This record gives sequence, structure tokens and C-alpha cells, in this order.
Amino acid sequence: MKDIIDRLAGKHDLTDEEFERLILCDEPEANDYLTKKADEIRQKVYGKDVYLRGLIEFTNYCKNNCRYCGIRCANKNVERYRLSKEDILSCCDMGYDLGFRTFVLQGGEDPYFNDDRLVSIVRDIKKNHPDCAITLSVGERERDSYQRLFDAGADRYLLRHETADKAHYELLHPAEMSFDHRMQCLKDLKEIGYQVGCGMMLGSPGQTIKHLVKDLRFLQSFKPHMVGIGPFIPHHDTEYKDCSAGTVEMTLKLLSIIRLLLPDVLLPATTALGTIDPLGREKGLQAGANVVMPNLSPGNVRGKYLLYDNKICTGDEAAECIRCMTARVAKAGYQVVQSRGDHIDMIEGNTY
Ligand code: 5AD
Ligand code: FES
Repeated sequence: MKDIIDRLAGKHDLTDEEFERLILCDEPEANDYLTKKADEIRQKVYGKDVYLRGLIEFTNYCKNNCRYCGIRCANKNVERYRLSKEDILSCCDMGYDLGFRTFVLQGGEDPYFNDDRLVSIVRDIKKNHPDCAITLSVGERERDSYQRLFDAGADRYLLRHETADKAHYELLHPAEMSFDHRMQCLKDLKEIGYQVGCGMMLGSPGQTIKHLVKDLRFLQSFKPHMVGIGPFIPHHDTEYKDCSAGTVEMTLKLLSIIRLLLPDVLLPATTALGTIDPLGREKGLQAGANVVMPNLSPGNVRGKYLLYDNKICTGDEAAECIRCMTARVAKAGYQVVQSRGDHIDMIEGNTY
């Protein structure tokens, strides 16, 4: 297994069979070696720096009905909320004072936030904080909408592909949702000039090792700037409530493989990983991740943006969350830096 890992580290590629063997491998020494190689290359590209993204969950209304998601429109037990523009702007002001230089506006697919409303929010954040990057994570839209938001000042866009296998996508989503449209969105975003993040859940219902290899091939060809991955975690109000969650081991394994596959990619240690293991995010950082996304949403809505059960960081104030996160990052052996944290290829060229 060591030679496979060395080959992945050196050539950033493997055969499908080798990927499968590596993903399935449960020898502790081999897995430790994989972690070590991933951390090595992460440090070569990014040193010990960890980038912060302030996450603002600004609406939990969603017109979609993804089978795995707690805020799917069919879930009538969710108390829905929308932040006002003023709320969002003051969240950013507070985040700025706390040291954030990237704001991620994340929400369900909420028709209330049409182009005009979102454009005006993006413009105002940019006007107040011209040195900050704005990331949008508001799902599938049409190309001209993405273009308008980009022109208004949005720099980045997160849209997880969820799975690169069409049949698996159709299992996880209702018939109204289209795999092809999702892929088209990702392509449009990249062509428009966004720094784009995609990603998938680990251990989602019906996911096989072959699907994961397909995900890796997709990442290899799409070349996203960021890859957000985390374990699937069941939500009690969904049909998947009795399914088992993805594991820490599988998430860490994929983080390391993705770091070796795409050395300069931005890789968050996600909240979902911190939810299934109290030290999940620290372990993620040590396995190749270099981004954390503390919650900046106002305290009174945090408990309402629940995509899955037992989500962490729902009770804290923003200032508390960033203090906690900075301490966790330091304890894991890294340092939080105050910068926009652009994809490194864009700031100083490829050096690995
Ligand atoms: N468990 C883990 N992650 C989830 N997401 C949605 N529902 C769940 C769940 N039950 C992820 C999806 C989505 C992102 C915002 O959160 O991958 O793209
Ligand atoms: Fe939110 Fe630790 S990062 S409580």
C-alpha cells in the first residue's frame, strides 16, 4: 500500500483499482502513512496556515426536497427564517471586527432571494468591506443569475455536486432535480470566473466505493478550487432517519486522498465532521484540510439551520465560536491567518 500512496503523492493519480484498494484499506500503518503524506504536501503548499470563512446561514427556506436534508421543503417541522439585509450586513461587520476576511452566504434555495435582492446584498457587503471575499452558497440558478451576482462582486461559489454518479444522484434527490443541471451549474460558475467549490457527503445512502472513485475522477477533471466533504448524518425528519452516518475514518481518508490528488485545493474541515467526532475538525486539519468555517449566524437562528441531527456550534455566539476555533486550530498544530485565503495558485503560482 505504501507504494500506492507514494505514487499518489508523486503523480497525483492512480488507477481506479488502486483508488478502490486505498479507500478500502484498513491497515492502521498504511492509513497513518497516507495522513502523513497528505499533511506533508499541505504544508509544502500552505505551510501551517488555516483560512477562516465566516458562515452566515441567512435563510432556511428551501424549494427543494433533497431526501437527506433536514430543511427540505416537505419538512413541516422546521421553523423557517430569513435574515434581513440589515442583519446580514451587521453579521459581516461583526465578523470583520473578529478578523474574518471571507463571508460565506449560505442558504436554502429560497425564491425570496431573487437576483435583485441578492445583488444588492452582495454590493453592500463589498462596499463596506472591499478587502473581503464573498462566497455564495445558494444552490442552483441560471447562468445569467450567476453572472449578475459575479458582476455585483461575488468572488466564490460553493455548490456540492453531491455525487458524480447520475443514478446515485437520482436516488438521493426527487425527480424534479436534475444531475445534468447541477453539472451545468458548476460548469457555468467556473466559466464565469468564480472560484468554485464542489464536494460530496461520505457514507450517503446507496454510496459505493465505485461512486467515490467516480467522485475522485470528477474532481480531477473539474479541478475545483475548493472541495467540501463531510460525513452524511441522518436527520430525524427525513426518510433516511434510520440510515447510518458516514464515518470519521472514511472522511479523513478522503480528505487525505483529495489533498494528494489536488495539492493546492482548499479543503475545509467541516462542521459535519466536528459533529460525528468532538475532535473531528482537528483530525481533519491533520489529514490535509486547511480551511475552517466558524458559524457567524446570529445566535437566535442557529438552532434552525439544521441539515442533520446534533449539529454543533448552534448555541454559541460568533465571538465564542471563533475563539474556540482558533484554539482548536492551534491545538492541532496549525495557525489561523487573517486573510481572504484565496486559492494559492492564484496568489503565487504552483510551487509543489
Ligand atoms: N448530512 C450531512 N451533510 C448534509 N448536507 C445536507 N444534508 C446533509 C446531511 N443529512 C450537505 C450537502 C449540502 C451541504 C450544504 O450540506 O452536501 O450540499
Ligand atoms: Fe463553534 Fe467551536 S467552532 S463552538
